[in-house]
Amino acid sequence: MATIVSGSEGVSTLVAALRNGDVVGFPTETVYGLAADIRNDDALQKVFAVKGRPTSHPLIVHIADPEQLRELTTEMSVACEALTRVCWPGPLTVIVRASVRVSRICTGGRDTVAVRLPAHPLAQRVIRELGAPVAAPSANRFGHVSPTTAQHVVDDLGNDINVVLDGGASDVGVESTIVDCTVNPPQILRHGAITPEDIRHILASCGTEVVLDSSGPSRAPGMLDRHYAPRARLILHETVDAVPDDGAPVLRCDSNLVEVARHLYDQLRDLDARHIPVAHVVLPARQGLGYAIRDRLSKAAAGL
Ligand code: TXA
Ligand code: MG
Repeated sequence: MATIVSGSEGVSTLVAALRNGDVVGFPTETVYGLAADIRNDDALQKVFAVKGRPTSHPLIVHIADPEQLRELTTEMSVACEALTRVCWPGPLTVIVRASVRVSRICTGGRDTVAVRLPAHPLAQRVIRELGAPVAAPSANRFGHVSPTTAQHVVDDLGNDINVVLDGGASDVGVESTIVDCTVNPPQILRHGAITPEDIRHILASCGTEVVLDSSGPSRAPGMLDRHYAPRARLILHETVDAVPDDGAPVLRCDSNLVEVARHLYDQLRDLDARHIPVAHVVLPARQGLGYAIRDRLSKAAAGL
């Protein structure tokens, strides 16, 4: 069973494990990641094995310094420059053309790579002490609810990894916003805490638009219809008035959206822990953080 470590000693333990080619649980401000050293192909392969994820679904590369992006890509668009300058460190992932230095195991065989600079200080310390970026998908079994505490990682993957670094509960609670900067105009592939309004505003400053709607056929492999899924069946409603009075619990996700996002996955896990078969959910409006919350809830509710 995996051990939870913390503090400076925990950082050193994690870095030693990464150097040893292990995959480890590490905290970020969005959700916990399952990390491997990007220089080690065997370790990268282990990430897919532990997660039970198809090898064609690429991983996000986490860096600790914006300069590291230049080693990972061959070209930086003006849009990418602006987005990363404003949003990093933070919950934004950019898709860029991959340089030859990026392992194709990490990119799922593609010539593009997803990169982000997390805001969590412990994530940054791990990457700096290792001296190299780490590739990390969310640290949950493929298709399960993403982890927002070290204990969630142990609950899901504790039998397959040795160590998880405890960085407290993730502050944001939903995965990063993904923007594909290899196309013009850039396209939002996954909604997150950096909202479409934020992105439109940043890109307007460099005279670029953004494609807001990510509801079409997704070009980000791994974004299946059913994802982030609890066992409980969720019934989604646009307004609280539409919820029938049938005794099933009601999750209000229509106000205090920062708090809703922070506790979203915890609430879904809690339904399962309480063996609740069906719950009603009141959705937020399509604006700001509401896009990301709606996206995760629709995926959690999608039929098998
Ligand atoms: O907040 C986050 O982004 C978290 C934390 C741990 O950083 N990570 C995360 O990773 O959510 P993961 O693997 O669960 O989701 C990564 C998504 C996948 O849907 C994948 O398809 C997409 O990023 N992706 C990665 N590389 C890509 C690429 N080259 N082109 C298109 N999509 C890509
Ligand atoms: Mg994931």
